[in-house]
Amino acid sequence: MRYIGNKTRLLGFISRILRFRGIRGGSAVDPFSGTASVARRLKERGFRVVAADIMEYAYVFARAYVEVPRIPDTTDLARALELRAATPAAITRYLDRLPPEAGFIHDHYSPVGAAGRLHGRMYFTPENAGRIDAIRNRLEQWRRDGWIGEDLFHLLLAELIEAADRVANTTGVYAAYVKSWQPNAVRPLHLREPRVREGNGCHAFRADALEVVRNQPPFELLYLDPPYNTRQYAGYYHVPEVIARGWFDVHPSTRGKTGLIEDNDKRSDWSRAGRCEEAFEALVASAPCRHFVMSYNDEGIIPEATIRRVFREHGRAVTYRRHATGYRRYRSDSDGENRRYRGDSVREYLYCVEK
Ligand SMILES: C[S@@+](CC[C@H](N)C(=O)[O-])C[C@H]1O[C@@H](n2cnc3c(N)ncnc32)[C@H](O)[C@@H]1O
Repeated sequence: MRYIGNKTRLLGFISRILRFRGIRGGSAVDPFSGTASVARRLKERGFRVVAADIMEYAYVFARAYVEVPRIPDTTDLARALELRAATPAAITRYLDRLPPEAGFIHDHYSPVGAAGRLHGRMYFTPENAGRIDAIRNRLEQWRRDGWIGEDLFHLLLAELIEAADRVANTTGVYAAYVKSWQPNAVRPLHLREPRVREGNGCHAFRADALEVVRNQPPFELLYLDPPYNTRQYAGYYHVPEVIARGWFDVHPSTRGKTGLIEDNDKRSDWSRAGRCEEAFEALVASAPCRHFVMSYNDEGIIPEATIRRVFREHGRAVTYRRHATGYRRYRSDSDGENRRYRGDSVREYLYCVEK
C-alpha cells in the first residue's frame, strides 16, 4: 500500500545493518508496524515477531502478513459456496465477481451516494465503491456466521484494503481526493490472492507502542519506526481505517469535505512536536530488549541530539552508532503554500544501540 514512511524500499539497508550488528534471530518487536513491511521481512528471516500499531488497518496487515502461521483451511467455505477448488485463490475470485452494493463506502466516499454527493467526494468511482461495500459486507457476514475464522477473515480484508488503495482517487494519502478521475481510479477494483508467510509464534496487536513494549517479556530486538512529522496517520488514512473497522456495530459518522471519522483516541504523541521527545524516552526506558534499532530521517521532529542522548543513557554508550543511506522521498503531494520539500531525497538513518 502507498504509505507515508513505508520501509519496503529500505528493507535491504535494514537487513544489512541487522546482520552487521550480529542481530540474526530471536524475538523482535515492531510497535509502529504500518504496512508490516519490516515485520514480515523479520518473520521471513526467522524472528518471532510482535507487530503492533494504533491504526486498525495496520492491525489487519500485521495479523494477515505476520501472525497468520499457515494457509487457513477453506474447505467448509468452498463447499458452502459450491466452489470447485477449496483455496484462498478461488475465494478471492468469488469475492472479485460480487456485484456492487450501495453501502457505506458508496454513500460516503463516492460522488453519487447521499453524503458523498453533498460534499462532492470522489475517493472512488461509484462502481468500485459499491464493490468495496459488497466484499466488506460479505466478509462480515461470513465471519459472523462462522463460515471463516479470524485468520482467513484478516487475510481477505488485507487484500481488500490494498485493492481499494490501488483504485483510490488520491495522490497517495486520503487527506484529499483528486478533483478529476485519475487513471488508476477508473480501473476496476481487483483483489489479489492472499500470500501466507509460514512461521509460528508471531503476534499482532492494535495498541499504543508503549503498552505493547513494556508488557513484553525480555526480547532481542526492538525495531522502532515512529512517525517523523506532525501529520497524524488517523487523518491521512481514514478511508482504509473505515474499511478495516467496518460499519456494522458502530455506524461511523463522517464529517467535512473529506469524510473524516471521529478518531481522537488515535492522535499520536509521536506526531506532536511538544510531546514526541517524552514519548521516545519513556518507550526506550521501559523496553526489556537487547538491541534498539530505530529508523528516522533528517527531517524528523525528534532532534538528533535527543536520540543520541536517550540511546546513550539507556544503552551501552560505546555500542551507539548512526548508520545512514540516501533515499528518494515518498511524495504524496507537491510543494504547497504550507509545505516546501527540501529536495527529492532525504537521508534515512538507523540509530542503533545495545542495552
Ligand atoms: C513511519 S510509519 C511505520 C511504517 C512501517 N514501518 C511500514 O514500513 O509501513 C509510523 C506508524 O506508527 C503508527 N503510530 C503512530 N503513533 C503510534 C503509537 N502511539 N503507537 C503505535 N503506533 C503508532 C502509525 O499509525 C504508523 O503506521
